[in-house]
Amino acid sequence: MRLKDKIALVTGAAGSIGSATVKRFAEEGATVILSDINEEGCKKVVKEIKEKGGKGGIIGADVIKEDEIVALFSKVKEEYGRLDILANIAGGDFENQVPVDEISYEKMSYNIDINLKSTILCCREASKIMMDQQYGKIINMSSLVYRGSPMQFTYSAAKGGVFTFTRSMALTLGMYNITVNALAPALVEVDIIKNAIGQEMWEALKEDTAARYPLGRVGQPIDIANCALFLASDESSFITGQIIEISGGARL
Ligand SMILES: NC(=O)c1ccc[n+]([C@@H]2O[C@H](COP(=O)([O-])OP(=O)(O)OC[C@H]3O[C@@H](n4cnc5c(N)ncnc54)[C@H](O)[C@@H]3O)[C@@H](O)[C@H]2O)c1
Repeated sequence: MRLKDKIALVTGAAGSIGSATVKRFAEEGATVILSDINEEGCKKVVKEIKEKGGKGGIIGADVIKEDEIVALFSKVKEEYGRLDILANIAGGDFENQVPVDEISYEKMSYNIDINLKSTILCCREASKIMMDQQYGKIINMSSLVYRGSPMQFTYSAAKGGVFTFTRSMALTLGMYNITVNALAPALVEVDIIKNAIGQEMWEALKEDTAARYPLGRVGQPIDIANCALFLASDESSFITGQIIEISGGARL
């Protein structure tokens, strides 16, 4: 088992990519702590992993609130004693398809809070535990739009910030045997997008996008979870400060 006896925390654990990541970590022997604002969703995922013999628990937190993040990590330390792996998956684009001259202060702030500030604060809290134990694997969620994307101005800026912060953390934390890397998925088939645009529009988007990706398909949550698993395992022990594009070859 690739994560035997490891303690892993996953934020956004009830979501499509988060829950796939939780399941892969649990299958490989980690005890997984699920965190999300969707408690019911977390309960469903924990039930599933336990039915398959996995180990996990829930500690809820709203990652746009600093006090809740601080409380989350202090509960992790109190209840589990250590933290080997942190996957910062919570996030999303809350200002999609908005032209540059219509950027709203409110939505921009939310995109930065949920994608960038949450990652910075969770990394800050995790580093306190991981530096003490001289071990840690941090996986941050960026996006392929970190390269820049029209009509996703504030989301792409936040995800670009996640990559830059990841590199800064990697530079600082290497001496403590902590690796910090980022994931950059292209379009992934997830419920939140399907529900937002409807099945018919989703099928059209999926077909059009797949035709532009060299591998001829969009991503699935398991594609992202498998990469997160590699970065969480000791197989990636000489990799830090990297952004891994999980994109079917898009934008080469
Ligand atoms: N789906 C894609 O195509 C895609 C592509 C690139 C990057 N991403 C990134 O992957 C991550 C997961 O996205 P997903 O597509 O699985 O979406 P999702 O909506 O299924 O997952 C996001 C999860 O985060 C949780 N969440 C939202 N706000 C929160 C908060 N304030 N505190 C705690 N939890 C909160 C949600 O409840 C949800 O369970 C996001 O960071 C997203 O930006 C997604």
